[in-house]
Amino acid sequence: MKVLVTIQAVREAVREARKQGRVVGLVPTMGALHQGHLSLVQQACRECSFVIVSIFVNPTQFGPREDFAVYPRSLSADCELLKREQVDVVFAPSVEEMYVPKADTWVEIPSLSRVWEGRFRPGHFRGVCTIVAKLFNIVQPDFAYFGWKDAQQLIIIRKMVEELNYPIVIVGCPTVREKSGLACSSRNVFLSPKERAIAPAIYQSLKIIQDMVKSKGITQAKKLILAARKFLKNYPQIKIQYLAAIELQTLRPVKKVGPGVLIVVAVKLGKVRLIDNLLLT
Ligand code: PAF
Repeated sequence: MKVLVTIQAVREAVREARKQGRVVGLVPTMGALHQGHLSLVQQACRECSFVIVSIFVNPTQFGPREDFAVYPRSLSADCELLKREQVDVVFAPSVEEMYVPKADTWVEIPSLSRVWEGRFRPGHFRGVCTIVAKLFNIVQPDFAYFGWKDAQQLIIIRKMVEELNYPIVIVGCPTVREKSGLACSSRNVFLSPKERAIAPAIYQSLKIIQDMVKSKGITQAKKLILAARKFLKNYPQIKIQYLAAIELQTLRPVKKVGPGVLIVVAVKLGKVRLIDNLLLT
């Protein structure tokens, strides 16, 4: 496994792989790898013959009061994990390598970027789209892998790829959960033991909605959301930022749920912000 830090070196590695007729897969990450990331990497390794994992904590997707400075960084441990998965290349550039000073070219889909996560993290998806577009331009993969855990990000990237005509297949991979049901996230390390014990309630609130739909046939979004909110009230430490039933393509709230409706939730638990979602089938 090669660890490359320059755009030029990555381009050369991809050119070599292409010469050998290899299928190129990209897994963009910000490092601090957990089981969720590894499941993306494993799927990429099954489906592609040349896999690049990028590790880059992207400053432009963090707001001024967000956790960029303290975001967990563990490059050597990440590389050990990726070596075991038989990844071909880790691309770990510096900020200076990825952005020229005062870079001011942005990719944004305003209609999808200012709702839900975007309301609480202004500018976040502009930063995500811009860095993902840059990684796509550098690597030019055939396939790129993203987790359903960040469902809004996945939907936005799919739209970007469609509208900017990237010849890349975006693969959405299922959320990986701890035994408790808590979705794997790099930010889970910030939870205190007490908060960790409470955090599974977030997924449980989504399951309550799923059960009400499945077993009682309730489809009224208002009723379902109310039940989930009521359940979360048992945990005063959990402050809900949003909890909603939304349409997949447009991210608009729905009145009636059915297959293909996404239940999304974001909470603050102590100082940690956690998100999760569940797709109704
Ligand atoms: O999901 C992430 O880790 C990041 O948003 C991504 C896609 C790597 C872009 O920085």
